[in-house]
Amino acid sequence: MATEQRPFRLVVVGASGFTGQFVTEEVAREQEAPGRSSRLPWAVAGRSREKLQGVLERAALKLGRPTLSSEVGIIICDVSNPASLDEMAKQATVVLNCVGPYRFYGEPIVKACIENGTSCIDISGEPQFLELMQLKYHEKAAEKGVYIIGSSGFDSIPADLGVIYTRNKMNGTLTAMESFLTIHSGPEGLCIHDGTWKSAIYSFGNQSTLRKLRNASNLKPVPFIGPKLKRRWPVSYCRELNRYSVPFLGSDVSVVKRTQRYLHENLGESPIDASSFTLTFFGQGYSKCLGTDQKKPNMKICTQVKGPEAGYVATSIAMVQAAMTLLNDVSDLPKAGGVFTPGAAFSRTKLIDRLNQRGIEFSVISSSEV
Ligand SMILES: NC(=O)c1ccc[n+]([C@@H]2O[C@H](COP(=O)([O-])OP(=O)(O)OC[C@H]3O[C@@H](n4cnc5c(N)ncnc54)[C@H](OP(=O)(O)O)[C@@H]3O)[C@@H](O)[C@H]2O)c1
Repeated sequence: MATEQRPFRLVVVGASGFTGQFVTEEVAREQEAPGRSSRLPWAVAGRSREKLQGVLERAALKLGRPTLSSEVGIIICDVSNPASLDEMAKQATVVLNCVGPYRFYGEPIVKACIENGTSCIDISGEPQFLELMQLKYHEKAAEKGVYIIGSSGFDSIPADLGVIYTRNKMNGTLTAMESFLTIHSGPEGLCIHDGTWKSAIYSFGNQSTLRKLRNASNLKPVPFIGPKLKRRWPVSYCRELNRYSVPFLGSDVSVVKRTQRYLHENLGESPIDASSFTLTFFGQGYSKCLGTDQKKPNMKICTQVKGPEAGYVATSIAMVQAAMTLLNDVSDLPKAGGVFTPGAAFSRTKLIDRLNQRGIEFSVISSSEV
């Protein structure tokens, strides 16, 4: 990672977008965080100076920081102009890339960052993009010693770090895991099974799992989000699940966006402030004295990650804390650089502590030997 002095520690590219505005405000909060001893020079970047100025003015108003606009740099760059991206990347230690959809706009920014020795974080939830970047750029990033870390928003920091947290909290070896996402919005709750359809059908057809989940997340009705079920599944399961299900088409749109559209259409306008999420993990494994070659696991653990509204508030907190981890926990990152998922990059860092301090809270609900 860049060790020479650069004008900006962080640069938010795509700051003029809907998510970019949240990320900009979150960097401004981080700049003033209690206990922050060193300066955090930063900039916003995009193709319209006017829009970027507007973003800073709105952030200044919201945070009550009238001088904010004069403290933050502005860089003009366009994804279709590689030289402008090089100029932007040269000025940053870490780029926070909010320009999406990433499969259309993502690659030129990754390329410019690697060529200019700059680390880059994005909030993509697009598997094709993530995998392509890993295949094409991992070695180049490692040669340059930079970290390119995709999916560092709500997709997939709570999920990745939740698995790592559960593994670390288990007094033994974690061998199996299932997770459930609940989006709370006013009195209603939504539950999204985060796994294969086969395991969703198994779990939701299983009344005891449903009961456990409801108890753990204090949830009443559990509508189920996912594509309309296919006929080939057993009729009784389909009937039960379709009672709770909302049909959606297309697999590459992020679950969060689909959930928000569902909330908007079915529950009316849902203010971002009234929304929150809970991600519940049920893990199984073997205690230290029992080898993993035994037939049945003898340990169970339930953990949760809770946080504010998923799509924008939790996403901006996760992205900014991932960037702060890149800046500050250098010795705990993978030795060489490369293109990583959040779990692979941050498993040994203090990211979970940082998230806890910013309201994305990790906790153990229960842990027992059976
Ligand atoms: N994983 C998660 O949890 C999560 C959560 C939220 C969002 N996201 C993702 O974040 C991305 C952004 O979402 P959004 O809702 O904020 O989108 P948006 O409001 O459309 O913002 C897009 C941003 O990209 C900029 N842009 C577009 N074309 C550009 C170009 N040629 N050069 C430079 N900048 C360009 C836009 O600049 P202009 O203002 O100049 O048009 C704008 O700042 C999407 O891919 C979305 O899926 C992920």
